[in-house]
Order: sequence, then structure tokens, then C-alpha cells
Amino acid sequence: MRLSSQVIKSSYSVIEKKQVLFHTMRNRSKQSISEETLDPRDWEKFRLLGHRMLDDMIDYLKNIRFRKTCFPSKEVIDKICVPLSQEGEGEERVYEVFQQIILPHMLHITSPKFWGVVAGTGSPYGMLAEMLRATTNGAQEFSFAELYVHKQVITWIKEMLEFPKEAGGVLVSGGSEANFTGLAVARNAKAVFDVKAKGVQGLSRILTLYCSDEAHHCLERSVELLGLGNEALRRVPTDDDCRIRIDVLAHAIEEDRLQHNNPFCIIGCAGTVNSGAFDNLNALADLAKKENMWFHVDGAFGAWVKISRTHKHLADGLERADSLAVDLHKWMNMPYGIGCTLVKDRLAHYSTFVYGHEAEYLKSAFDLSEDQLANPHNLALPLSRSFSSLKAYMLLRAHGKKKYSSLIQQNIDQTRFLAKLIEKDPEMEITAPVVSNIVCFRFKPNEMDETEIEVLNKKILEDINEKAFLMISDTTIKGKYMLRACNVNNRSKKEDILSMVNEVKKTGEKNFLQMHDAGRR
Ligand SMILES: Cc1ncc(COP(=O)(O)O)c(C=O)c1O
Repeated sequence: MRLSSQVIKSSYSVIEKKQVLFHTMRNRSKQSISEETLDPRDWEKFRLLGHRMLDDMIDYLKNIRFRKTCFPSKEVIDKICVPLSQEGEGEERVYEVFQQIILPHMLHITSPKFWGVVAGTGSPYGMLAEMLRATTNGAQEFSFAELYVHKQVITWIKEMLEFPKEAGGVLVSGGSEANFTGLAVARNAKAVFDVKAKGVQGLSRILTLYCSDEAHHCLERSVELLGLGNEALRRVPTDDDCRIRIDVLAHAIEEDRLQHNNPFCIIGCAGTVNSGAFDNLNALADLAKKENMWFHVDGAFGAWVKISRTHKHLADGLERADSLAVDLHKWMNMPYGIGCTLVKDRLAHYSTFVYGHEAEYLKSAFDLSEDQLANPHNLALPLSRSFSSLKAYMLLRAHGKKKYSSLIQQNIDQTRFLAKLIEKDPEMEITAPVVSNIVCFRFKPNEMDETEIEVLNKKILEDINEKAFLMISDTTIKGKYMLRACNVNNRSKKEDILSMVNEVKKTGEKNFLQMHDAGRR
């Protein structure tokens, strides 16, 4: 049988097509081998590295009590600050850099003897929760399970802080952002013009706000970033207990009204960073109501006294705030980078952060669904969000409220223990009222005047910092220099506190003798 040329042609073309397909597939599979990815080529080798890292980190936390502070030498810094290589040094090699060069020279705020600044000490389960978050790389909390996890965490925070159920809230990066967020809503809600559209360019009267002279400096930053200018933040003096003077505050507001300014917000402190003092929040709420002003509370760490057994009364009136800033990474010991803003007027909160071009939509705000109002992407600055509610959710659900209450109570009890040790010691003095979890104190032997006491205590801190950086820190209240221990540490024991007091005394006595000898020469 003879094949027609047509049939031959078409069968050639079928063969050709098959060959082309074969070559394309071969090229593709070749390509897929050479195409880049950050996934490991050898997953089993990677698994070994991962297990090693996890074991090492568990050991790190298990043995944290025995870690010493070690400042990075010039040699260490040179090993950290290297040029970026073209080819990369490999995961294992870089992990060695972390283990041998970075980790030993880090500030171990996880130590049971760390009471400097306000430093949360984290937890092993928190570390694991962070690993899950990083692994799934969640970048949104507006849908799927993430939305419900975020919403649930906000509900639990409101319940623990006894904040009204109707309030909304959003998780943010920490106390500073929590305050910024609350104040942004306050500004937009209380300005007598449309700040969202006109910005502060539309100001005809200066917007003024008020906090105590003991309030945290992050408030100043917020006020500056909100375009209000730090002069608009009136720093009201405090009484002997470091609480805002309500009479002076009322007078300042009156003065501003006389000047045709627009007093719009009172900020209360629930736990000042210097001494842990609490403003009279009920009195501030009363005044804000009378003056038709927004009432914001900075309860960054202090708000958590609400779950203590003995000290919840300090935060009475907190529930009356229009907005509350609180964090979870200090006294709640969650891995760093988590705070929360609660706001009662959910629409004001939403309308502050929803995009300008969506503002039209607000005209039909009554149609807003619950999920839109709870969507954290509409309630804070970032668009892409880390799924940080996961760690809060897992930690709160795993440990339960009682555990956190006991830890807060334990810190308060340990603080009282520390205060008693100092009170009993004739060579030491308490220098600010001890109300919650902070003790301000000095080593103060007889025969020394104010200037000498300051020099001596600065020297004590310098020496202690050389041995154990930020075991304690320092501050100045009403012009007086003092040492300061802030206890939000979930690893401290009373014996640690005792040894810190002994260290201060030993260092103090040594320096006192040196100063004395130098004076005689
Ligand atoms: C009372 C108070 N407010 C705000 C902040 C700022 O919080 P963050 O460091 O989480 O930004 C702090 C920090 O210590 C604080 O103590």
C-alpha cells in the first residue's frame, strides 16, 4: 500500500510535535533543578539543623540562670560586621556565628536577675508559638482562622482587664504603637474639623492634651508624629505619690479654653515607668466627661494589676477610658512585639485607619459588618500584618488566666519583699512610694550629702552593670537620682532579689570606702 504524501506529511508532523514536546519537558525538568528557591535542597539535613537549633534554644532557656553578661569586644564586633558575601556562607555556618559570636554577647533580659528598665522575660512555650507563626508566615488577620484568633485574643484581653465588652481593639507592636493608635483616634474624633481630609493644616484652634510629668516619653513621640507638636502636650506636675495633680490639670484645661485652644484629651497613667504609680483614673474620667474630652490611659505594663489578687484597685476607673494602651510583652511575658489598643467608639477607631478613599463609605457606616469593624487591617497602620495574635492566643489558652494572675501577684509580692529588705537596712532608703512592681532606692550611708549620694549611687550602678548589665537601672524623680528595680520577671525568686540587694550593698560599701579614702587624701 502506498501512502499518500499528505498522510506522510501529517505523520511526520506528529513525530515532530512529539519530539518538540519531549525536548520541552526535558528542558523544563532541567530548569526546575536550576530554578532558585529558599527551601533546602536536602530536607533531611535541614531537619537535623532545625532539631539542633531547637535543642540549643531549649537549653539556653533551661540554663539562663547561669549565663553571664559579656560585652562584645572589638574582635567580636568585627566578626559581626562583615561584608555581605555573594554566594552566602550557608545555614550551618551562620548558625555557628549566632551560637559563638552573637548569642554570648547578647543582653540576656531573660535572666532571673534582670530588673532593669521594664523587660519581659518571655517563655519557652512563647518561643514555640513564635516558631509556628514564622513557619506559616501569616501576613494577614482579616480572614480565615487568623481573624477569629485575633478577635478572640481581643475578647480575652477585655475580659481580663474588665474593659467593656462593646469596645473594639487591635493588636499592635507594643506600648508605643498602642498609645499612638489610641491618640490618633482621639485626635480625629475630637478635632472640630475633618482631620482625615484636611490634616492639621485645617487647624484654627490648637488641639491640646494633658498627661503627668511622670508619663512615658513615647506619648511625646506620638503627639509629634500626629502633627500636633510636643508643645501641645501639657505636662502636669505630680504630687508626692507621683500621681497627676487633678487641681492643676483642671486649671490648665481652663487656661487653654481661655486662650481659645481646643483641649481634647486627658491621658492617665496606669503604672508610670519610673515608679509604677497610678493616677486617680476615676477622677480623670470624671474631669474628661465634664470637659467633653477624650480619656486615654497608658497602661502599658501596669494595667495588668487588674488580674492581681491584691492590687487591682490601683486601676479602678480604667474601664472608663475611651481608649487604653496596654502591652503583652512586658508584664505578660509574651515574646516581644505585641501590644494592644482598646477603643470604645469602634466607628471612630475604624474611621481613623480605613483608607481615605474609602471615607465615602463611612457615610453608610451603619451598614458596616461586625467583621469589618473587627478587621485589624482597618484598625492600625500596617497593611501586611504579622500573625502575632497566634502567640497570645496559644499562651493564654495554654496557661489560663489563673497562671498569669499568680505571676503578676508573685511579682507584686516579691516587690514588697524587696522594699522591706531596703527599709530594714540602715544604709539604704526607699526614694519613691512603692505601689506596684517597682522599687526606687538608694544606698545612703551616714555622713554623705546629696551630691555625694548621687555620685556614689551612679558608681554602684556602673560597677553592677559591668558584672550583670541592667540587673537594675536608674532614674531621676523630682530631681533626685536613684536606683530602680522593676519586676515583671517570671523567673525571679526571692533568693535572686536577696542576692541583688547584697550586691548593691557590697558595691556601695566598697565605693563608699574608696570615696572616703580619696576625700582624706
Ligand atoms: C508606661 C509605659 N508606656 C509606654 C511604654 C512604651 O512601650 P513599648 O516599649 O512597648 O513601645 C513603656 C515602656 O516601657 C512604658 O513603661
